[in-house]
Amino acid sequence: MRLGILTGGGDCPGLNAVIRAVVRQSVKNYKSEVIGFFEGWKGIVENMYMPLTLSTTSGLIRKGGTILRTSRTNPFKLANGPSVILKNMASNNLDALIAIGGEDTCGVAYKMFSEHGLNVVCVPKTIDNDLNATDFTFGFDTAVNIVCEALDRLHTTAESHNRVLVCEVMGRHAGWIACYGGIAGGADFILVPEKPICVNEIVTAIKTRHSRGKDFSIVVVAEGAKFDNNEILKDQELDSFGHVKLGGIGDQLAKIIEKETGYETRTTVLGHLQRGGSPTAFDRVLATRFGVMACDLVHKQEFGKMVALSGNEIKAVPIKDAVDSLRTLDMKLYDMAGIFFG
Ligand code: F6P
Repeated sequence: MRLGILTGGGDCPGLNAVIRAVVRQSVKNYKSEVIGFFEGWKGIVENMYMPLTLSTTSGLIRKGGTILRTSRTNPFKLANGPSVILKNMASNNLDALIAIGGEDTCGVAYKMFSEHGLNVVCVPKTIDNDLNATDFTFGFDTAVNIVCEALDRLHTTAESHNRVLVCEVMGRHAGWIACYGGIAGGADFILVPEKPICVNEIVTAIKTRHSRGKDFSIVVVAEGAKFDNNEILKDQELDSFGHVKLGGIGDQLAKIIEKETGYETRTTVLGHLQRGGSPTAFDRVLATRFGVMACDLVHKQEFGKMVALSGNEIKAVPIKDAVDSLRTLDMKLYDMAGIFFG
């Protein structure tokens, strides 16, 4: 067989580990060839690619980012995008495509499969962990570990200065990173998009904490969290999939906390640090298992499927199940995190 592979959407640690696994399994066990399209769906539309061999993918397990680069290109927004994709699949003698991505990339893959007959298999990637039908996406564990380490560092400086430190984390409209990172890093309050921000609750928690002799507090806020009065942040731009560009809630919140509590408050926005650098061991193993299984699915001609983690098993699920709706935070976990607030 000849396979194409692409990485779309925001990058995350573990993408290269999937590429390496797909190539190793294809070459070693199926004698198949692989090419990699550059910059997500843009690369297959513009026919930009490189051959992927054992030597071009060697040593990738520890390397963050993606050697294929990525973009948030939506081919359904381009003139003849879908038919150009099919044409370039044929002109490169490709039998199938492996698309590694999140909600948007897998959403395009599903439309290409169901409406245009593309032979495609998906691999779920995103630091946000907001894809349905899989227990975890790779990249999430690395992001959580980065948040945890940041909170450990913020603790020592917050304590030295008797400050409240607000840490804004990514995650788009799901509070997975905030909740996991906040629990692991011992946050004194965590705010997630799934529950409107109630200023009174935070202020009470911080004051309660200070009244029992703790002169500093750490507050984790997800970039997608919103105030209960529905206040909308101004100047929000949209990307090519129509998603709002988030960010800025941390600063807004810090000003309110300082005003309402009288405690000096500062903000740290972790931003793209959460997507950079080497994957954790967990993400390396998950990405490798996903890559090998995606390659097996392609060779069994099980198209329209996504590899998924279910318990500790890697399974094949319909791509549709993953992209039908967003996987938001399990509020049982958030309620447990609340035991440690204040
Ligand atoms: O989906 C991953 C993610 O990092 C989100 O958490 C965040 O909202 C968004 O991408 C940021 O996108 P960009 O890299 O385009 O700024």
